[in-house]
Amino acid sequence: MNKIDELQTRIAEAMLGGGEVRIASQHKKGKLTARERLQLLMDEGSFEELDMLVTNRNKGITTEQEQFPGDGVVTGYGTINGRLVYVFSQDFTVYGGSLSEPHARKICKVMDLAMENGAPVIGLNDSGGARIQEGVVSLGGYADIFYRNTRASGVIPQISAIMGPCAGGAVYSPAITDFILMVEQTSYMFVTGPNVVKTVTHEEVTSEELGGAQTHATKSGVTHFACANEVECIQNIRTLLSYIPQNCEETAPVYPYTLGNEVREKLNTLIPANPNQPYDMKEVIAELTDAESFFEVHKDFAENIIVGFARIAGRSIGIVANQPAHLAGVLDIHASVKGARFTRFCDAFNVPLLVLVDVPGFLPGTDQEWNGIITNGAKLLFALSEATVPKLTVTTRKAYGGAYCVMNSKHIGADLNFAFPQAEIAVMGAKGAVEIIYKKEIDAAPDPEARMNELVSEYTERYANPYLAAEKGYIDEVVEPSQTRVKLIKGFKMLENKVVNMPRKKHGNIPL
Ligand code: COA
Repeated sequence: MNKIDELQTRIAEAMLGGGEVRIASQHKKGKLTARERLQLLMDEGSFEELDMLVTNRNKGITTEQEQFPGDGVVTGYGTINGRLVYVFSQDFTVYGGSLSEPHARKICKVMDLAMENGAPVIGLNDSGGARIQEGVVSLGGYADIFYRNTRASGVIPQISAIMGPCAGGAVYSPAITDFILMVEQTSYMFVTGPNVVKTVTHEEVTSEELGGAQTHATKSGVTHFACANEVECIQNIRTLLSYIPQNCEETAPVYPYTLGNEVREKLNTLIPANPNQPYDMKEVIAELTDAESFFEVHKDFAENIIVGFARIAGRSIGIVANQPAHLAGVLDIHASVKGARFTRFCDAFNVPLLVLVDVPGFLPGTDQEWNGIITNGAKLLFALSEATVPKLTVTTRKAYGGAYCVMNSKHIGADLNFAFPQAEIAVMGAKGAVEIIYKKEIDAAPDPEARMNELVSEYTERYANPYLAAEKGYIDEVVEPSQTRVKLIKGFKMLENKVVNMPRKKHGNIPL
């Protein structure tokens, strides 16, 4: 065979992974192969594969392993929307995509390249876990990856798509990365599977219930996106990248935008006159941001807070917003953690923040207290306080108690604080406040209920407004809602070159 033919034969062999039969079985499960996924993910013709011919010469614990060029993972680099990315895509047709020593080395190689060249790493995970035949060598491979994930955290964006099994120790690489996407019905993540669960806790649970996309999107919050199918999952990765920079030294790409009439009349009527009536904060977001630009993250988890990316006059921003349409927008453990994690991503990667406030306070109850609302609520406070990116706040309605301080108040470093005229910024709601400070007076009144109502109206009139905060300069401007988008465009532009020098330290100690 001539040299070129030999090369072509070797490549053709590698392209087949575990062979036709296993490829057919992968398709039968409704899954694409590792290479088909890359074809969808990367810009056409941009993918350059590395280590295609790596094989596994390690002696297994029982027998020699069968040789498959590539050893169960396709790695390389290319572009997405014209920007460099590094990728690895596990090939389930080779030993179930399980991780061997050479497989891990290939992943580490692209991670190292990504770090040195300042570009995102995307992992498409589809794996039966540690290569059982290799024992501890495989575990070492995992740890090498975890270590790199941790070192890369905050330096380059790391994205994990789960497109098949991801169990045992394997879950901890995605867990450290910035964003996890899962595919409904064909992917699952758990530390121990249904069989072990049954033995240990006697619970009967399917893989899907225990660790499917819906479970992690709604109950645990482990995944940021639950995608209907693999194509949607890959499209989401491409969209997500469009909002974020290549690394922590850069800023996100700016999309062309020509300023026009930026007044949004609808905002003047969006907030209901009755402060107890809910409304959908997503409608406010839609008015404030560029058309169709809002890309929600963690959509189905802790819906009382909204987080996601959007653009304002073409520039990427991160939004953290209370959602009065769900649990009145109260802050609880999950909402705090969700908001904190997103805030830290934005801060690490120079994405300016917009915080929209309508919060009645923290959620009371034994469940919350015993599970640590103190520690967890502090995460959001810490994250917003430490963030040095431009930080803008719009208080649309309520900002009560400790939650006022937490939600990007002036005191914790917000650059510009706006409030709608409907805003109520006070220590607590009128009824609660009156019951405490006028208890004796109400009890002594001939008609306690009438006196109470009178005092509530007085308190509301006096305290439930934005003007006391504006008099102190805690609110920079009370704005007519329709003008808010104009204010935000100018505000973000004004803060474009913001620099904050932090005190020297190794790292902060966020309450975990
Ligand atoms: N190590 C080595 N080979 C593995 C493997 C692993 N961890 N996981 C799967 N494989 C191989 C299987 O032997 C099979 O090989 P074959 O194609 O030569 O028959 C192939 O991958 C596909 O596995 P299969 O079990 O047929 O696929 P499935 O879709 O029915 O089930 C899993 C997938 C992941 C649920 C199942 O393979 C499994 O439980 N694997 C072990 C998981 C584990 O305990 N990992 C180690 C600890 S992290």
